[in-house]
Amino acid sequence: MSVRFNLDAGLLFNADIPAEAAATVEKMVGEANKTLFRKGVPAGVPEDEIGRIEDFSIAGSVLGLRIRSGPYTRAHDALFRFRKLIAPSLGKFRLGLRDMEIRSFWIEMRGEFPEGFRMPKLPFILSADRSGDTLKISLRMEAADLENKVPDRLVRLIEEKFQSATYGGKAEHWELIFSSGPKRTMNDSDPTEQMIKQGWIRHALSRGQWIHGPQSVRLWRTFEKIVLDEIIAPLGFTEMVFPKLTPWEVWKKSGHAKGVYPEIYYVCTPKTRDPEYWEDVGDYFKVTGEVPVDMIRERIDGPIGGLCYAQCPSFWPFVQGETIANDCLPIRVFDRSGTSHRYESGGIHGIERVDEFHRMEILWLGTAEQTVGIADRLHEAYMRVFENILELEWRCARVTPWFMAQEGMVGTAQDTITTPSETACCADRVGTTDYEALLPYSGSWLEFQNVSINGNKYPKGFSVKIQSGTECWSGCSGIGLERWSASFLAQKGLDPANWPEKVAKIYGEPEEIFRFM
Ligand code: SER
Ligand code: ZN
Repeated sequence: MSVRFNLDAGLLFNADIPAEAAATVEKMVGEANKTLFRKGVPAGVPEDEIGRIEDFSIAGSVLGLRIRSGPYTRAHDALFRFRKLIAPSLGKFRLGLRDMEIRSFWIEMRGEFPEGFRMPKLPFILSADRSGDTLKISLRMEAADLENKVPDRLVRLIEEKFQSATYGGKAEHWELIFSSGPKRTMNDSDPTEQMIKQGWIRHALSRGQWIHGPQSVRLWRTFEKIVLDEIIAPLGFTEMVFPKLTPWEVWKKSGHAKGVYPEIYYVCTPKTRDPEYWEDVGDYFKVTGEVPVDMIRERIDGPIGGLCYAQCPSFWPFVQGETIANDCLPIRVFDRSGTSHRYESGGIHGIERVDEFHRMEILWLGTAEQTVGIADRLHEAYMRVFENILELEWRCARVTPWFMAQEGMVGTAQDTITTPSETACCADRVGTTDYEALLPYSGSWLEFQNVSINGNKYPKGFSVKIQSGTECWSGCSGIGLERWSASFLAQKGLDPANWPEKVAKIYGEPEEIFRFM
């Protein structure tokens, strides 16, 4: 996609610009076009792609500028560079720059627009017209918006929509990298049904939520012990507790603020904790037996964010703005302190696709090499666990990275992530590997965990550096306890007598603590 920026602006001075100043302006314009606007532009970039003042006019106290550019020294950047140059030069004529006016600003984007492309609705847009391969967008911009790089974000956004509409028809990225091959399975029914029947779980009262009884939780703790003994301890991970209420401040930096809205469980705060303010709400319930949701809605602020969604973003404020010493790298931590929540709408199924779920989240960071190295060791450790301990029929595949999917993007990390040359060795490793298990009762595959190399995304978002000065990378891996259970039980059944020896041994004998009359 090619892009052109067109800006007509006026520089407002505190007095009329005298005729003798015209020559100075002309000289400065020439200098800006020849040198100032070329600073930082790579050699070989065609002339017409670089910002240029095509014309200027002097009328009273206003210096009018017509600036055009392609993607280099964009028209709005050129304007601010020129302002810095011209202000002192006209100072000689006792002129002071007072203000700037944006008379018109429009962007032209050219490319083969796919059918599914829709122009986003945004407050700055005056008009957007597409004819053939050209989209012309007129914007209402103040100088502050230009300085704030609104046009650049707008262009990036349109390019993203363009890209996702192009990919839209295609299936999500999925590329097999390992398959365990067939294994003997002991069950051909849906384990959720079996768990309900045998009293392991019961529906909770919120949507997509279960109450897990002792047998089910015992299996989770069995899995946790296996993960702790076989993966977390040998690879040197240490436990932390990540918050489970995620404020916008975290999601702005993690990128979730770009697209996670349809799936958030939103969190609001009371406007005040004054009991009097809330008295009638409680009274309404006392009289009617109903909770007056509309009355509550009027008395709350926010939402201030949402319930934990991806689990690892909440870690990052712990290291935000810091430079981490070499001798503690790679940092290796994990969290298993609470639930994650996603509004799954119609997608709910069994214990495996739910609105409230539990997972261990493993997180590491360091140099690119360290990050990739740990991902590889993790993969080997998981492989041993699935092959030798759980004896699962499983496979794994490279998929669209979770951090892109959760921002509403498709494709691969290589389509969007750029990293400096020092990380070139690892750049093609950025992305997510999904681990999937066969569900014999349906013949389908269930994603039960993932391992991701997230590149520089999080360190960059939260301004984290490492002492060596090379780029900081990170990775994470989410182990879904419900998903491990659904996979394992679907293949092995609920009777520990049929389970692989090691799992059955750790699981032991569950106590029966409920007897219903
Ligand atoms: N944070 C990752 C995800 O949400 C891994 O758990 O998928
Ligand atoms: Zn994560």
